[in-house]
Amino acid sequence: MTNYRVAVIPGDGIGPEVVKEAVHVLELLEKLDPSFQMEFAAFDWNSEYFLVNGKMMPEDALDTLKNYDAILFGAIGDKRVPDDVTVWELIMPIRKRFNQYINLRPVKLLKGVPGRYQGETIDFAIVRENAEGEYSNSGGRLYPGTEQEMAIQNTVITRTGTKKVARFAFDYAKKHGKSTVTSATKSNAIVHSMKLWDEAVKEVGKEFPAVQLQSYYIDALAAYFVMRPEELDVVVASNLFGDILSDLGAAIVGGLGLSPSANLNPEGEFPSMFEPVHGSAPDIAGKGIANPIAQIWSAALMLEHLGRKDLADVILAAIERVLVQKQVRTPDLGGSATTMDMGSAIREAIQLLLLVKEGQS
Ligand code: NAI
Ligand code: MG
Repeated sequence: MTNYRVAVIPGDGIGPEVVKEAVHVLELLEKLDPSFQMEFAAFDWNSEYFLVNGKMMPEDALDTLKNYDAILFGAIGDKRVPDDVTVWELIMPIRKRFNQYINLRPVKLLKGVPGRYQGETIDFAIVRENAEGEYSNSGGRLYPGTEQEMAIQNTVITRTGTKKVARFAFDYAKKHGKSTVTSATKSNAIVHSMKLWDEAVKEVGKEFPAVQLQSYYIDALAAYFVMRPEELDVVVASNLFGDILSDLGAAIVGGLGLSPSANLNPEGEFPSMFEPVHGSAPDIAGKGIANPIAQIWSAALMLEHLGRKDLADVILAAIERVLVQKQVRTPDLGGSATTMDMGSAIREAIQLLLLVKEGQS
């Protein structure tokens, strides 16, 4: 029997509302599958914690988290605390200290999702570099407050860092039976860093003869996302390009309520962290109407990472079943169901699917 230890950080706003549903799903799987056990530890590190303690989490928080197999994260953000504090004092330290250099975002159009791509097969993954690139704090400003004022923001692209993210992307393609990896570049204009990016990606591509590498300029690729998303398999991108493409990807498959993500430390030296793409949604927080699918799907990605793809597949099939039936829909999908309605519909579907599976075996 496997026993996984999961640290749960619900966070702010709708975070706790959707995390609750995801944890209920995991608890149900535990009950239905005796070979799988989870131990949860919840941490109340959020904006409220900051207002009381003057920091987002305790000094030894990362040492504490290090002992867990994975982190299930909700969302953070509260108008009483500046956004750069919540992000840079909670999410970033976890991503950086735990060397979660991959941000994996599946872009999959589930059956039953309303929108202009309904009926199309869109199923690809964005592999975003999560540790270096454009999001570095190297740089500075000169002559502040004068007309001569200038700012320099350095992009850090390393051969090692790029090869690691490229290797993950090719490996992901190979494991998932995908035939292409599409690299987002701009080496025609950004001639130093992006040329190194191109070279490093190409070098890794040679190790994977069965997977074809195609390289697109980021502007053309943005259009490609909208015009021909069904042709994409795996997209590999730098930190900034991957960030922007991820929101575009989310938009074409139903929006933020349906978009999960994984911050991965592929070597497993540290815990990886699983969180929806969305934030704390203060406009709907407390109303009980947030769509919990992004969070539940993030929990499924966690199970896949922990080696239980079978259970992750059951969760995804259950989500799809509920969407296809169209009876339970949260307001972002055009319905009037609550977060809890959606959570229990998905759990019912899981129960049903596992019973059918049992019946077949
Ligand atoms: P947001 O993702 O919280 O909300 C954007 C829009 O999408 C809102 O209208 C919201 O109601 C809707 N939405 C988001 N998730 C939804 C769900 N599950 N179901 C239904 N509707 C949903 O982004 P926004 O408004 O830019 O940021 C709000 C706060 O969240 C800010 O403080 C921001 O810093 C923080 N944030 C935190 C993130 C994180 O914890 N990783 C990521 C993004 C933003
Ligand atoms: Mg973003």
